[in-house]
Amino acid sequence: MRTILSFNDDWLYCPRELDDREPDSAFETVTLPHTNIVLPHHNFDNDEYQFISTYRQRFTLPEPRDGRRVTIDFDGAMIACTVFLNGQNVGSHGGGFTPFSFDITDSLYNGENVLTVRLDSTERVDIPPYGYVVDYLTFGGIYRDVWLRYVEPIHIKQIFVKPRDVLSDAQRLEVDVYVINQSGQAATTQIQVDLTDVGQRAVETITIPARGEQAATLRFDSLPPMALWTPENPALYALSVSLNGDGDTVETRCGFRAAHFSEDGNFYLNGQPLKLRGLNRHQTYPYIGAAAPARLQRQDADILKYELGCNIVRTSHYPQSPHFLDRCDEIGLLVFEEIPGWQFIGDEDWKALSLRDVEAMIVRDRNHPSIILWGVRINESLDDTGLYTATNALAHQLDPTRQTGGVRNFRGSEFLEDVYTYNDFSNMIIEPEQTPHLVTEFSGHMYPTKTWDQEERATEHALRHTRIQNAAAANPRVAGAIGWCAFDYNTHEEFGSGDRICYHGVMDIFRLPKFAAYLYESQISPDVRPVLRASTYWTMGDRSEGGNDPLIVFSNCDEIEVFVGPFRHGRFQPDRAAYGSLPHPPFTVPGLAMHMTWGREFHDLRIVGYRNGTGVAEALYDGEGLPRALVLTPGSAELHADGADMTWLWFRIVDKYGNRLPYATQPVSFEIEGPADLIGENPFALVGGQAGLFVKARREPGTVTITARTMRLEPATATIEIV
Ligand code: GAL
Repeated sequence: MRTILSFNDDWLYCPRELDDREPDSAFETVTLPHTNIVLPHHNFDNDEYQFISTYRQRFTLPEPRDGRRVTIDFDGAMIACTVFLNGQNVGSHGGGFTPFSFDITDSLYNGENVLTVRLDSTERVDIPPYGYVVDYLTFGGIYRDVWLRYVEPIHIKQIFVKPRDVLSDAQRLEVDVYVINQSGQAATTQIQVDLTDVGQRAVETITIPARGEQAATLRFDSLPPMALWTPENPALYALSVSLNGDGDTVETRCGFRAAHFSEDGNFYLNGQPLKLRGLNRHQTYPYIGAAAPARLQRQDADILKYELGCNIVRTSHYPQSPHFLDRCDEIGLLVFEEIPGWQFIGDEDWKALSLRDVEAMIVRDRNHPSIILWGVRINESLDDTGLYTATNALAHQLDPTRQTGGVRNFRGSEFLEDVYTYNDFSNMIIEPEQTPHLVTEFSGHMYPTKTWDQEERATEHALRHTRIQNAAAANPRVAGAIGWCAFDYNTHEEFGSGDRICYHGVMDIFRLPKFAAYLYESQISPDVRPVLRASTYWTMGDRSEGGNDPLIVFSNCDEIEVFVGPFRHGRFQPDRAAYGSLPHPPFTVPGLAMHMTWGREFHDLRIVGYRNGTGVAEALYDGEGLPRALVLTPGSAELHADGADMTWLWFRIVDKYGNRLPYATQPVSFEIEGPADLIGENPFALVGGQAGLFVKARREPGTVTITARTMRLEPATATIEIV
């Protein structure tokens, strides 16, 4: 039997290189995922996470081995490590974004074992993405989950689930099962695949040579009608693969969907053209680097889908957390996943690591129906015929069901992939040289925008995303556009603003919206929910020359009515002349100057959104503009008492209608009671009227109460149950 146990608890950690003779008192106790240093949300140096650290785990095998092999599986550690068990070197790994495993069986003791991880988190020039400069940070630590796995000497190594002919009335399923035999004798085993939701089973017997591997393809050729995996209804089916009845068992999920970028310019999902509209995501967070537990990973996917209305995300610029990808499968968010790297290609050893990354990414992730494209070039690197011929061939060999892309940023680049994936910083959409053509970045550094930037800039930022998404939607030779980027991120000194943040997100680093987020949100179907957001702080004097003319309103309503104080300004239709290719063009409301005169009474703004003549949404903006409340919002009501679970604690200073006040700049301080800790700056020097901390569970249940205080406003409280 196979056993997989979480190996996240009770690590000893020291931010220095220590050997096994050092006493445990030199360490602190930590739970994974773990960042090697907690940092402020900005204004720090990447040198601060660049050091060698030591993780130590004392453990007695939690269950007997019974002849099984024992491995330790790391989902990810940044960026290179050597692992010792009881003083013996069990292996090394270089590369921070893909998983790796070590068989520790031969070094295990019967009693207590000491596992030591020497982790090098320096920006190693021999390991992708380094060698040159990189516009993001690779925070250190064992920042993903670790598992202890027991397997029989004959066990399943991998499975690859391939739905076939999914659009026909004879849908099929093929399951490639790779079995490994670590014993000294050839062995015969029966593979059994159960498609549990459907009650079907496929069986095949294979013989595996001694110390060898053997693969078999099991087939389901007469399936009942299988629901298609779609963004609206992402149907997933459970699969269980076992050897010899109830022996070694692996479980996974699959989705029946057809995804294809066509030379006619379109992307087709299940045979229907689907214009792709999305954003790039970095996996980093304030304070905790990349060490975000499952809940935060999953929530990023939810934000992209449900708050930003994206149908695709690009995992710029590396394979991201399995938890993030699982959630994309569950909610129907398409994914373009790519190998680590940034503009630079190293020597032959470096290239070998890059090929290794292609393999690790595809083998790890090819059962995710959400993934529709593999990125097999180093983001924005020069052409390299040898390397990219090899990465494409390897991707096609490992996964004949998916197309490849490779993100370039110059015209005339050699096209060795299936999809010409192009970063278009022209502030428009250039005419494709090739099809299929997918825009994989735009905007970004062309127009960095902060949450406390003036209304004109924040609105122009939103309109750039609007114009480019509109242009992509208008061009039948462009499959879609993925903007740069979803969230602001910490970066190196060669990039970013003076505080080393790239303010390129449509949301800030805390995942709270700027106006540009509203363009995306307003593309959500009105059947899901009405969206009505004015791109304004509603002031008399914030814009050059004063007033608010024109007012831009992002909405999926078909009509809006605008009132300024007692005046009914008029009814307006979406601005189809300017943005008519978008499903829901924003509204351009002219003429508000007549109600906004210097020195005259300044009224509130009220907007009503209509759908088919019925009012479905109302938005109110306060003319007075004074801070009326401090609002505290936890990202979730509950946390698990596992010592690692975390949620956001968002705080905002708002007007009387609950709108964020962008120029609310004042300290906010926090107190916490109960079995959890606050992670982040406390007090927080608030700018932009919104920010966030994290609440991290300890290992006991209970109720946690957080109180936030700031000058001249009532304190705000929030509670979270630790269960
Ligand atoms: C691109 C790059 C991204 C990011 C972006 C900023 O060239 O691929 O990683 O740096 O520019 O706009």
